Amino acid sequence: MAERRIGIVMHGVTGRMGTNQHLVRSILEIRRQGGIALKDGVRLMPDPVLVGRNADKVRALAAKHGIERWSTDLGKALENRDDTVFFDAASTQLRPRLLKQAIRAGKHVYCEKPVSTTLAEAIDLYRAAKRAKVKHGVVQDKLWLPGLLKLARLKERRFFGRILSVRGEFGYWVFEGDAARGQPPAQRPSWNYRAKDGGGIILDMLCHWRYVLDNLFGEVKAVSCLGATHIPYRWDEEGRRYRASADDAAYATFRLAGGAIAHFNSSWTVRVRRDDLLTLQVDGTKGSAVAGLRKCFVQSCEQTPKPVWNPDIPQPIDFYAGWDEVPDEGHDNAFKLQWELFLKHVAGEGPFRWGLLEGAKGVQLAELGLKSWKTRKWIDIPRLKA
Ligand SMILES: NC(=O)c1ccc[n+]([C@@H]2O[C@H](COP(=O)([O-])OP(=O)(O)OC[C@H]3O[C@@H](n4cnc5c(N)ncnc54)[C@H](O)[C@@H]3O)[C@@H](O)[C@H]2O)c1
Repeated sequence: MAERRIGIVMHGVTGRMGTNQHLVRSILEIRRQGGIALKDGVRLMPDPVLVGRNADKVRALAAKHGIERWSTDLGKALENRDDTVFFDAASTQLRPRLLKQAIRAGKHVYCEKPVSTTLAEAIDLYRAAKRAKVKHGVVQDKLWLPGLLKLARLKERRFFGRILSVRGEFGYWVFEGDAARGQPPAQRPSWNYRAKDGGGIILDMLCHWRYVLDNLFGEVKAVSCLGATHIPYRWDEEGRRYRASADDAAYATFRLAGGAIAHFNSSWTVRVRRDDLLTLQVDGTKGSAVAGLRKCFVQSCEQTPKPVWNPDIPQPIDFYAGWDEVPDEGHDNAFKLQWELFLKHVAGEGPFRWGLLEGAKGVQLAELGLKSWKTRKWIDIPRLKA
């Protein structure tokens, strides 16, 4: 079968997301499955060149996965006209500069979220890509999680009736990393907890909630957000104690177009007693659903129990009964599914609506969430112009 190569400069792939989700579970997996089928039967085959600042790390990563091409020289990598796509999963603060450089070099660009730490930079990037007429995309992985795909289908077939509210519970306990107290090392990078390094759960998670809500339940119209830094000190990758200057929990309420109310708790300081690390409960006039990353359970109006408040007897209702599981339709990695759509789009096949303007909307919600917290006010979300 005919093969068509698509060269990708991959930057920041020695990091957590870059290695696991983007290199191994997306690009290498697409290569392993023999590329992406295009309409004319040709297979689109990604050919990555790994780029990073630490030669030892990049070389080792390339060797481990049998990738021939790697470099520490981004400028030179961007000069290669045979590599038409630039991807970035490095630290958020670097991203606007790197993407601009890639756009100037004529590359199509794809990147992790948030696209930047400020809305002004995010909009500037979108305009630069538009002017240069390059194709662009931003990771919005949660949209391709099996649990959320099930919610989308329930909504399409009008299972919920009128949607009243959406409750999101996201989070888990991230260890402080204090070895002296016998703790394991933290399971997330330390920059996540330092404001000056682009950390903070509001910036990290509100951009996810923006595209989840906009795409599934109605455009976000207003936000009220309360942040907190519950844990004041943590221990970094070298075991050094540092002050956690960024928010590690956010309690945010959103008003959506169409009238639904959404409330999301996002926290790295919560212990999990729920079905998954992210659960979304959707309540509508005709039925409700609770989705995790993969599974989804529904309760129709007919199945809904009729509880009566009585603390003097043991609870007679099993509230976990009366929910049906939505059947699985197979799992594929959410990042990989979005990569496939982006690469096809670059190859001239299919639309791709998750671009830099959508990415900017996420940064906008995070920025206004932070403002709401600081000013203790509800904030309206202005519509961003294309
Ligand atoms: N889509 C998601 O669900 C999701 C989840 C977590 C993180 N992210 C995003 O992915 C990005 C990376 O997060 P991570 O958790 O993988 O972080 P990480 O710290 O594990 O990785 C960061 C990478 O950037 C590189 N880097 C840092 N500073 C650099 C510099 N000055 N020059 C060149 N390279 C540099 C590091 O070497 C590393 O490869 C962030 O923007 C984050 O917001 C997205």
